[in-house]
Amino acid sequence: MEYITINGGKRLAGQVKIGGAKNAAVAIVSAAVASTGVCVLENLPAIEDVKALVGAMRNLGMDCKFISENTLKIDGSDIKCCAITYEQVTEMRASYYLLGALLGRFKHAEVPLPGGCNFGLRPIDLHIKGFEALGAKVNIEHGMITASAEKLTGANIYLDMASVGATINIMIAAVHAEGITQIENAAKEPHVVDTANFLNMLGANIKGAGTDIIRIVGVEKLNGGEYSIIPDQIEAGTYMIAGAITGGDVTVNNIIPKHMDSLSAKLIEMGCELTEEGDSIRVVSNGDLQACTVKTMYYPGFPTDLHPQMSALLSTAKGTSVLTETIFEHRFQYVKELLRLGANIKVEGRAAIIEGGSPLTGANVLAADLRAGAALILAGLAAEGKTVIGNVKYLDRGYQHFEEKFSQLGADISRINLDE
Ligand code: EPZ
Repeated sequence: MEYITINGGKRLAGQVKIGGAKNAAVAIVSAAVASTGVCVLENLPAIEDVKALVGAMRNLGMDCKFISENTLKIDGSDIKCCAITYEQVTEMRASYYLLGALLGRFKHAEVPLPGGCNFGLRPIDLHIKGFEALGAKVNIEHGMITASAEKLTGANIYLDMASVGATINIMIAAVHAEGITQIENAAKEPHVVDTANFLNMLGANIKGAGTDIIRIVGVEKLNGGEYSIIPDQIEAGTYMIAGAITGGDVTVNNIIPKHMDSLSAKLIEMGCELTEEGDSIRVVSNGDLQACTVKTMYYPGFPTDLHPQMSALLSTAKGTSVLTETIFEHRFQYVKELLRLGANIKVEGRAAIIEGGSPLTGANVLAADLRAGAALILAGLAAEGKTVIGNVKYLDRGYQHFEEKFSQLGADISRINLDE
């Protein structure tokens, strides 16, 4: 069993290179299934979710080869089947993107109901609404989703919620639908735009990604091509908060500063000094931060995927902060573990009331999900004494080489395996 151990209280300083975006990578790797050519994807994060997805695609008969740790070559010319088994994708949610890709190209797909982080029901009704609007028949039984269609025809699809997954999944399927599809109330996250840019590079005709209305004109087929994944907004935000929570001086490189605007504004409000330069942001904190209020919103609002990490930071700031979660109803599983580290947080409905200022102290804790695990690392870095974090598998789903990256910034962090 693997654990992460941290001896906290050290000020982080230095530079860290941010990798490719997990939530863009899992969408784009899946979207490559819609192409009959060879795709070369660069700046892919070396994380478990990407590896699991590639494993599932190899079981479809696709030739997928890692040219380097972060570059993948996918040959979509010879796919033998359209069914993914549950065993192949139990730990990850994004396998549902294979539905859109297989349905679009082959008019048939069999994919397990998605797994992934367990905060709330995580329905996929909007994905199904979109596929049915395009003319597909969708069945869910025995934990499998089966979608098939004689043909797909463009349609107007209104999303009741600006779902990232539904927006991307419907977009991928609609690329092969005859005629025009319009997705209204579409998600605007950077990874939605990145996936649209990738599909357009392959020969799709998608306009409006990044706005409320995305318009897709169907095409016969998609060719191959080379594409580089955008930097990870959430990984970057996690390291920016690491600089803030340790009273440090951390520069995140290889990012798109615009993507960080909502977090940057909050760090400045709390008393950090931020400097944006090219593809970098430098965060300097004197360790004497002030409380603030945060509300998670769809992009360009404050990302829900930085909610747990921000709660860790607010636990160390003077005063009472309120963090309201508007996207997922059960994103507060991280709270009970932060309480073990000495945080003072009360959850009332969708809001966490955080009394900051008392010092955090090391403890044994368990990551409940990917971003909850990130919050525990950040709190452990700030806490006096030793913190031991279990369920490291969650962290490996979304943060490549995180112990090396934190060590390079001066953290006393290591991975231990108690079975050895
Ligand atoms: C994506 O999840 C991300 N995952 C999540 O990141 C992220 O938290 C989320 O978007 C919001 O930004 C991937 O991209 C693989 P949604 P997704 O559909 O697509 C409701 C991480 O830590 N909804 O935008 O599942 C849903 O319940 C992960 O990297 C429906 O009601 O999120 C939620 O309340 C965690 N019906 C809201 O919409 C649907 O059919 C937003 O969910 C779909 C969603």
